[in-house]
Amino acid sequence: MKVGLLTGGGDCPGLNAVIRAVVHQIEQAGSSCIGILDGWRGLIHDLTCPLTTAETDGIIGLGGSILGSSRTNPYRNPETELASLRENFERLQLDALVVIGGDDTLGVALRLRNDFQYPVVGIPKTIDNDLRVADFSFGFDTAVNIVTEAVDRLRTTTETHRRIVVVETMGRHSGWLACFAGMAVGADYILIPEVPVDLPHLLNVLSRRRTAGKRYGIVVVAEGARLADRRPITLDDETDPFGNPRLGGIAVTVADEIALAMKIETRAVVLGHLQRGGSPSAYDRILATRLGLAASRLVLRGRFGTIVTLINGAIGETPLTELNTANKTLDLSYYDEAAAFFQ
Ligand code: F6P
Repeated sequence: MKVGLLTGGGDCPGLNAVIRAVVHQIEQAGSSCIGILDGWRGLIHDLTCPLTTAETDGIIGLGGSILGSSRTNPYRNPETELASLRENFERLQLDALVVIGGDDTLGVALRLRNDFQYPVVGIPKTIDNDLRVADFSFGFDTAVNIVTEAVDRLRTTTETHRRIVVVETMGRHSGWLACFAGMAVGADYILIPEVPVDLPHLLNVLSRRRTAGKRYGIVVVAEGARLADRRPITLDDETDPFGNPRLGGIAVTVADEIALAMKIETRAVVLGHLQRGGSPSAYDRILATRLGLAASRLVLRGRFGTIVTLINGAIGETPLTELNTANKTLDLSYYDEAAAFFQ
């Protein structure tokens, strides 16, 4: 059996741990793996590399993906890119394709399954934790820890200067990262995409804290958060091949509003891609390894058109469907708990 592996979409810590686990399991079973480079772009342009246990055994703690990644959508150009992808897939004679990705990458896997019966098995990944099939996706825990460390550092300078800092996290559709990291740092306020920004309330909470003697403030905002009746703020008019805008700028807007209303020096800090970089946490390494092992078992049993899941704490499988590749927003019970500190 010849198994292809690809990582697509925004990278996240833990991708290499998955690759290691899949390669190990497939080789143990007497089969072999081949890496498809740079996500779906690699299948379109025939970019591959050998993948063996010898080469991948030490990569569990490595950030990024040794296979590279891209936001390539072959369905944008069916006559050229999709056709070339199909030719290469045939030529490579793959018996299975393990697709490690978020909603967009897995969405392409789903279409290839539906349109051409490709033998795909999906593995969910994202730092945003916005996939329905995973209570928690690998990459998320690491990102929460990165934001926590960054804000802990910001706290000392913010406090020293008696300022307010507004820290922007990733999180396009969901506030998981902002809410969890915000709770972990004891933020004075957390703003998420699911709940429109209530500026008067935010100002009121910050003012009350000042009056009560707290001489600095920390606000954590997800990039997808928006002011009431407005759309999320974008960096430019560009969209990626899946139609996603590039979000960014809400921290500056919120910081300006705070500075104007409270007459307190306020700074905006955008953490950006720092949140996706570096070594995965132990939790993410273990979760990624477990999902990789589960996906390998599906491959070896010929259970294609499936995706591995983490639901109610247990690893499982579910059919690759539109619903199962869809996004989920933050479970608002977490936000209610966080909001106990900014009522
Ligand atoms: O999809 C994950 C994510 O990290 C989002 O939170 C963010 O909006 C986006 O990727 C950034 O993508 P890129 O790496 O293409 O700038």
